[in-house]
Amino acid sequence: MSRCLSETDMQCISNLVREHSAIVVESKKEYLVLARLEPIVKEEGFTSIADLICYVRRTPFGPLHRRIVEAMTTNETSFFRDLTPFEALRDEVLPELIKKRKDRKSVNIWCGASSSGQEPYSIALVIRELFSELDSWTINFIATDISSEMLHRCSEGKYSQLEVNRGLPVQLLLKYFSKNGRCWYVKDQLRNMIEFKEMNLAGPWLPFPKLDIVFLRNVLIYFDRETKQRILTKIREHMSGDGYLFLGGTETTLMLDQAFARVPVGRTACYRLRPVLENSGHVIS
Ligand SMILES: C[S@@+](CC[C@H](N)C(=O)[O-])C[C@H]1O[C@@H](n2cnc3c(N)ncnc32)[C@H](O)[C@@H]1O
Repeated sequence: MSRCLSETDMQCISNLVREHSAIVVESKKEYLVLARLEPIVKEEGFTSIADLICYVRRTPFGPLHRRIVEAMTTNETSFFRDLTPFEALRDEVLPELIKKRKDRKSVNIWCGASSSGQEPYSIALVIRELFSELDSWTINFIATDISSEMLHRCSEGKYSQLEVNRGLPVQLLLKYFSKNGRCWYVKDQLRNMIEFKEMNLAGPWLPFPKLDIVFLRNVLIYFDRETKQRILTKIREHMSGDGYLFLGGTETTLMLDQAFARVPVGRTACYRLRPVLENSGHVIS
């Protein structure tokens, strides 16, 4: 199997991935393309990566093209990743929303780029374990990802020992998961809280209700500035005026979208919409 890609082959993959996911694959990431495409070459019986790319070039977008795009996504995640956003949910965000939404008795949550599900299940665990008053509320909880493989994993709620060892406290594991063979399965009481749906952040969006809590962590980093701005604008349109946006530790709205203010919350920060000056469409800075 050839070990390196020609410039045009690299460009072809980079264009394909960008067009269908907005993910930027820089030319220096050749090693990543090689590592991610090699399994597809083997499984699909191509003689080399160049052979696979030749097929990609010759044929219209189809399942194999999609598989390549999905292979180029990075799905790294874990239960209670970074911990502080979940502490913020527990200590400030949910208590505050419970007060504000007590008449309506509903909360709308979206976890974008949910990967294999550890992040939305961590949010669901905070709600179920610590806020029994929400048991009688309507929790509209949608989790989305571009990858059909990841969404299958989310809905299945099946995790290896290694995966549950990463960040999931043992008492929560024993209470909300059941073991079958070597794997752990999320129990229905948790699984049924979340609707998993496919959505490309760079494509048309689902018709969300007004969102009170948005988790969109560790995905903006893969996009260029314009795509980040477009996504933040859409979040803004879908968020409640008093909603909370959580981004990944290295991500920010600063210098991208003035409508958001960075607000400290516990040991972390979230992003909230600045109040709009009535009739002007301008935000107060
Ligand atoms: C590094 S994971 C982040 C998982 C989780 N949010 C976390 O912080 O642990 C990035 C996820 O973004 C998804 N993704 C990448 N591009 C996307 C796009 N254009 N639309 C939707 N999801 C995308 C990938 O499939 C992957 O599951």
